[in-house]
Amino acid sequence: MMKILITGGAGFIGSHVVRKFVKTYPSYTIYNLDALTYAGNLENLKDIDALPNYEFIKGDIANEEFITRLFKDYVFDGVVHLAAESHVDRSISDPMAFVKTNVIGTVNLLNGFKNIWQGNFNDKRFYHVSTDEVYGSLGADGLFTETTPYDPNSPYSASKASSDHFVRAYGETYGMPYVITNCSNNYGPYHFPEKLIPLFINNIIEKKPLPVYGDGKYTRDWLFVEDHANAIDLVFHKGSNHETYNIGGFNEWQNIDLVKLLCDIMDQKLSRPVGSSQALISYVKDRPGHDLRYAIDASKINKELGWKPSVTFEEGLDKTVDWYLSNEEWLNNVTSGDYQEYYKNMYK
Ligand code: NAD
Ligand code: TYD
Repeated sequence: MMKILITGGAGFIGSHVVRKFVKTYPSYTIYNLDALTYAGNLENLKDIDALPNYEFIKGDIANEEFITRLFKDYVFDGVVHLAAESHVDRSISDPMAFVKTNVIGTVNLLNGFKNIWQGNFNDKRFYHVSTDEVYGSLGADGLFTETTPYDPNSPYSASKASSDHFVRAYGETYGMPYVITNCSNNYGPYHFPEKLIPLFINNIIEKKPLPVYGDGKYTRDWLFVEDHANAIDLVFHKGSNHETYNIGGFNEWQNIDLVKLLCDIMDQKLSRPVGSSQALISYVKDRPGHDLRYAIDASKINKELGWKPSVTFEEGLDKTVDWYLSNEEWLNNVTSGDYQEYYKNMYK
């Protein structure tokens, strides 16, 4: 019975990864460690939480004593590490929270794993889930490859870059078997409505302004979250040790074009007159240090492991909108309480 620790499993991507592993591998026990911050929500997993090979553990990865104890008690065979503070705008107002969770939390997990196996790692594995934002910003041309130098611009991407370096260093120094993946922007069900796509879906439902930063010409490479979870499954089982794989959607969109497409889909789904959602678009003050363009060259994972996205952007966006429209209770629950305060301060 393999014991796999997945961190951040109550968050957006983590919940898809937990679901995938719990359902696909009945012979593994999946332990979901999550602090349940504003971004973590056990409702994201209510369809699988009664399965016998799943266990939830509430705890903070930044708490060294707790993490040391946890690894001693459970002796995990593998770790898939997703827990993080993940929103760039929040990292601008509170960088230290990102240092604590993303840097110190990652080093605590690395120590926990190193100390239980004491160099006898055999087929054990530490999988670190990271982002393309560590590579900084592209101009009009080019793609991020696995050898693009790190050049992070936001406190979020700097904290993720730092955690990636620690993972590599533990591989080099202690021989710890690791893999790192750097993925582009995800979208899909259970995405917290502080990020562009779910925020705008929620605002369109509520007929609130759609705050587009700057001129809206910033470019992101979007990937459906289940395709990211599929890639994580594949790399965890088939990826080579001490390797990095970039994961992306081959799907670049300028923010303003994406927002207009989303508006048109929402008008149609909500039976509103054509153009009514686009009328909500409102250009607002830009994000400081805003990266112009991210785009991933995902040819390594494609060639070596045969991974590619399974849905087109149009299909993925359609599924996503349908999910939000049929899960209004989820949306209402996560946007009550603290969310209102965050929104007031962020978009004043
Ligand atoms: P998220 O913010 O939705 O979820 C993060 C989860 O981590 C939450 O459940 C939260 O409760 C938990 N968490 C936060 N601090 C913790 C702590 N100190 N201890 C334990 N748990 C804690 O994030 P996400 O969008 O699902 O991202 C997951 C991972 O994937 C992150 O490492 C992120 O950097 C990476 N990533 C995200 C994207 C994206 O587009 N969202 C793209 C590439 C990589
Ligand atoms: P976001 O979803 O925060 O992801 P990231 O910054 O990690 O790429 O933002 C995606 C893009 O959308 C980014 O260029 C910033 C922009 N954006 C807006 O224009 N308005 C918003 O309210 C938000 C949250 C993002």
